[in-house]
This record gives sequence, structure tokens and C-alpha cells, in this order.
Amino acid sequence: MTGTKKSIHGQWSSRFAFILAATGSAVGLGNIWKFPYITGENGGGAFVIVYLLCVLLIGIPIMMAETMLGRRSRQNPINTMITLSDEAGADKNWHYLGWMGVIAGFLILSYYSVIAGWASAYVLKAFTGSFFDADASEIKGLFDGLIASPIQLIFWHSLFMLATMSIVAHGVKTGIEKAVRFLMPSLFVMLILLVAYAMTTGSYDQGIEFLFTPDFSKLTGDSVLTAMGHAFFTLSIGMGAIMIYGSYLPKDVSISKTVFLIAGTDTVVALLAGIAIFPIVFASGLEPAAGPGLIFQTLPIAFGNMTGGWLFGLLFFVMLVFAALSSSISLIEPAVAWLVENRDMSRKQACIWSGSITWLLGFGTVFSFNVWSGFKVFDRTIFQLLDYLTANLLLPIGGFCIAVFAGWIMTQQHTEHELGMPNPLSYQVWKILICYVAPAAVFLIFLHVVGVL
Ligand code: PFF
Repeated sequence: MTGTKKSIHGQWSSRFAFILAATGSAVGLGNIWKFPYITGENGGGAFVIVYLLCVLLIGIPIMMAETMLGRRSRQNPINTMITLSDEAGADKNWHYLGWMGVIAGFLILSYYSVIAGWASAYVLKAFTGSFFDADASEIKGLFDGLIASPIQLIFWHSLFMLATMSIVAHGVKTGIEKAVRFLMPSLFVMLILLVAYAMTTGSYDQGIEFLFTPDFSKLTGDSVLTAMGHAFFTLSIGMGAIMIYGSYLPKDVSISKTVFLIAGTDTVVALLAGIAIFPIVFASGLEPAAGPGLIFQTLPIAFGNMTGGWLFGLLFFVMLVFAALSSSISLIEPAVAWLVENRDMSRKQACIWSGSITWLLGFGTVFSFNVWSGFKVFDRTIFQLLDYLTANLLLPIGGFCIAVFAGWIMTQQHTEHELGMPNPLSYQVWKILICYVAPAAVFLIFLHVVGVL
């Protein structure tokens, strides 16, 4: 296999650049917005344990496989699946896997951008001092007012999509490397600061107990599916985002070590967010199961009441928007790379096309919080449906197929060579996880949810 597409298909400047970009993709709203609220909705500790097991046993091996597929073919995910399945003499149906990823990317970005729009609106709220001395009910009022207004949501969603499109149009590498290098450490510091605040609330122990003391009677089949789906979502796997970033990875980099580092950072950020948020939830008499508004109804209370809160609140929401941007660009990059490599478009044209489609799709999510909030399919609003379809179904199905492809279709010689594991034993462990454990776990969880198990 040679990297014949190199003229259009670039390469990261170093291993570190890939780590930054892939961590930028993984760490985002999933860690800070979604993890706390779904943990709250699914009863806490037991859910967290299932999520951690899914990251370790399913997420990490599949992340390695996905990176490897991209690097081996050095093309966009659609062409990667065509080239590698032809190379292995496999069935033509494998070609659809790349397409499924591109579609999942559009659907996720359509609602991701609306939520990132909430975070952008909160930058302005923080700047104008809206959180100052506010109590829980005033903060809730701010949030309810925002999501009730389609005009405001469309404005912020449009702004976020424009930002995503202009970064991707300039090529993912230039801006991202720089932004993430400064963003990750700052976000980390900010989360530590919030954890320190949480310790002063008087409900720290209660928050920690909620997060880390498992009560397995609270787990339902659907919570297990949500925990697994979130492992895929938070690591950005199952749809080609990590595959396309892997395709820019230089050949001499060890995939296994790099993936462990990225997944580890991602998990720590999510846990820190949970540790910061739940004590505030309990101290303010809020419901852990408050839903997607959870962080927007809790963190401003902290900022409104701590010294220096104006500045910290502003910085926090700015960083959250940046973290969301470094994820959103990876959601659209597979489609853009395909349009550039196969349809002869410039990056700019490709961004306009794919960005506009996603922007329009986003209206469904915008309206699901206000004018269409009563419109439900399978008992879910459009936002809930898109979230369920992508995180709980499409990403795990994509990940399952990637595992089967890497474990059963590709030859051992190719996978062993590409992964470049430090020793044969670790390769064997990966092989068992990717051939048996990961696909079986996904399959059994699906069977459980549909009631067969
Ligand atoms: N991992 C991102 C987050 O946690 O916010 C979301 C995401 C990005 C999901 C890219 C999927 C993806 F392909």
C-alpha cells in the first residue's frame, strides 16, 4: 500500500500534532455537557462503571483499529473502506461503512452545533454579568429563556457553524494544532478550579457518592446502551472522524500508546466535569436528572458566587466553545475530504456544501426545544431522536463493523505491522478484544435492549 494520494491528502507534522487534534476531537461537549447529564439521568455510580468498562474494553481497541485503517489507506473514510476491503478481497458491502460514517457525522453535527450555540450564548451572558449573585431559580430562568427562543438559538447555531466551516476551509491542521495546544491545559486548570469550588459547597461528599458508589438496581437495559453509546461518542469513534485523523498520521508513530494517552485524557476530563458539577447540583437543591440543561443550570451558580467568578465564567464558556469547535471540525472533515478527493471541489466549496446541509438539519434540533417540543416520534423529540439514533445506534454499529473488519477481514500481517505494538503480548490482547470482546459486547447489549436477552 502506498500513499499515492499524498498530494491532496496531507500529513500531521508530528505525533504530537495528531495527539492534539485527536484529543481535540475527543474532548468536547460530550465530556463536559453530555457525560454529567446522562450520568444524572441514569442514576450515577453504576452507569459510570459501565461507561468506564466500555471505554476500556470496547472503545480503546476500536479506536486503535479505526486509526489503523485510516493510516493504512491514507484516504478519506469512504475511499479507505473501498481500498482496504478490495485489498482483503472482501465483500463490496463493506464500502457502505464509510458512507454510514459520513451520514452519522452530519446528523451529530446538526445537534452538536445547536448545543455549542448554547455555550456561545453563555459566553455573552457571562460577559454581561448575568450570573452575578444569581440563585438557582434565576439561573434556571436564564436557561429556559434561551431555549424558548428559536431566533436566539438559530443565531448562535449559525455562528457556530460558520466558525466550524471557516476553520475546516483553511485546512484542519494549521489552526487546530495551535488552538488545542493552549486549550487543553487551560480547560484542565479551569475544571480543577471548579472542583475546588465544589468542595466548598458542603455537598461535595454527596456528589462524589452519587458518581462513584454504584447501585446496580438503577441500571436498565437502556442505561447500559446509553453508557456504551457514550463511550463511542466521547472517543469520537464509529463514524470515521478518528479514521480521517489517522489517515494524516505519519507511518512511524505507535498507534497503541498514542490512543491510550488520548482516551485517558478524555476520561479524566469527563470525570472532573462530573466531580465539579454534582456537588453543585445537590447543594442547590437541583435534580441530577434535569437533562441537557444540567451544566447550564449549575455552573453559572458557581461562577455567580465565587470570587473572580466573572472572569472564570467567561473563560470557562469560551473554552467550552473552543473544545466544541475542535470536535465539530472532526465531524465534518470526513465529508469534506471526500468531496475534495473524489468530487474535485476546493476545500472551500466542500465546506460550504457540507456546512449548509448540516446547518439546515440543525433547525430540527432548534425547534425541538420550543415550537416543536410537543412533536414526538417514538416518544422522543427531534433532538432526542437524533441523539439516540447516532450515539446509541449508528456509532456502535459503525464501531462493531470496524472491529469485525480489523479483526476478521484484514490479515494479521497487515494489522500487526500497522499497529506497531511494543510487544507480541499486547498485540494478542488487542486481537482478542477486537475479534471477540468488543463485537460480542456491542451485540449482547443490543440484544438486551430489544428484549431478547
Ligand atoms: N467526542 C466529541 C465530544 O465528546 O464532544 C463528539 C464527537 C466528535 C463525536 C467526533 C463523534 C465524532 F466523530
